[in-house]
Amino acid sequence: MKKSTIAPSLMCADFTNIKQELSTMQQCGIEFLHIDIMDGVFVPNITLSSAVVKQFRKITSIPYDYHLMITNPEQKADMIDVKDGDLVSVHYESTPHVLKAVQVYKAKGAKVGIALNPATPINVLEYLLSEIDFVLIMTVNPGFSGQTMVPNALEKIADTRKFLDKRGYKNMPIEVDGNVSFDNAPKMRKSGADIFVAGTSSVYSKDADLEQNIINFRKLIK
Ligand code: DX5
Ligand code: ZN
Repeated sequence: MKKSTIAPSLMCADFTNIKQELSTMQQCGIEFLHIDIMDGVFVPNITLSSAVVKQFRKITSIPYDYHLMITNPEQKADMIDVKDGDLVSVHYESTPHVLKAVQVYKAKGAKVGIALNPATPINVLEYLLSEIDFVLIMTVNPGFSGQTMVPNALEKIADTRKFLDKRGYKNMPIEVDGNVSFDNAPKMRKSGADIFVAGTSSVYSKDADLEQNIINFRKLIK
């Protein structure tokens, strides 16, 4: 089983205290910052722009894990500040030219994944596997934080692991995103998840501070 990784979802952060939060994450060994980019069209919400998140590069060296919830991402690569070592996921449902989108972000130096909405079958990945580095399984309907995990999410994670292993992609990580709670995360891990997008129901939970939440969360996904 691959080492588990935590990617806090920055849209859940306290931006009045972002410098301290990023420093805490760095001290806790957080591996990626999950950056939700939304255009209000692919999903009915608008969040951080790349111009804003680009500024965080001045105060943290943690690589970005961009989750592009935008239409036709292949046409918008110049708007996204990608550095070597970043992850970029593009939604299968967001463009007729999803392979082109993968190629465009790979050319910018990112490791690229395909994000799948809850109802999208995993077999759409069939002819993309050789071109991608990971799969992002949405465990909520994309667009908002604070939602509840959709039915069949755990089954879909397990089915994705089997699908990848059967085709010789045993080392391809599965990322999960949405209500990755203290309760759900161990079940997701057991089902085959490797990269955990942690938001309001875990690292940003009001039950403890960010550092303690990260420490507690890490123990649950070993
Ligand atoms: C939703 C985003 C998630 C979200 C996670 O579309 O992709 O990253 O912010 O928030 P929680 O963990 O609260 O579901
Ligand atoms: Zn996300």
